[in-house]
Amino acid sequence: MAKILVVYHSQSGNTRAAAEFVAQGAEEAGGKVALLEARRAGVEDLLRCEGIAFGSPDYFNYIAGGLKDFFDRTFYPTQGKVTGKPYVAFITHGGGGKAKGSIELLCRIFKFKKITDTLLIEGKPDAASAAQLKDLGKKLAAAITK
Ligand SMILES: Cc1cc2nc3c(=O)[nH]c(=O)nc-3n(C[C@H](O)[C@H](O)[C@H](O)COP(=O)(O)O)c2cc1C
Repeated sequence: MAKILVVYHSQSGNTRAAAEFVAQGAEEAGGKVALLEARRAGVEDLLRCEGIAFGSPDYFNYIAGGLKDFFDRTFYPTQGKVTGKPYVAFITHGGGGKAKGSIELLCRIFKFKKITDTLLIEGKPDAASAAQLKDLGKKLAAAITK
């Protein structure tokens, strides 16, 4: 069973809702999911999982501080131990979405393996976005089990 970490930051709930759909998709594909707010997640969560879904709002064209803090805290203790670990990312935004660049840069520095394009969702996920988010979770689970 694919062990998946869905880690996110959310201030007003849009990214939390998105994260729940990603987790649902991963579970439907047979994954065992830990859905964690970034401030509650740490080194062990990152080491233990076999794949990660990162969720962030776009704040000032950048990754949200709460999720950035997770990357900051986990970098040195996991360096060299997470190389090639599969990841996907999703961003909720208010019409921009440029935070994609900062998340993908951090994932490259950690040497995670990108499974598919980062998903951009405007505002709260609607039914169409929910389907895309679930699909993202499924793709991550499939990448681990194949
Ligand atoms: C401090 C702050 C900065 C923001 N900056 C941007 C931005 O640069 N580009 C953008 O598209 N949306 C921006 N937004 C809108 C949020 O990305 C959007 O509302 C997001 O869905 C909020 O996610 P949350 O409900 O999970 O906190 C900003 C919102 C806040 C509170």
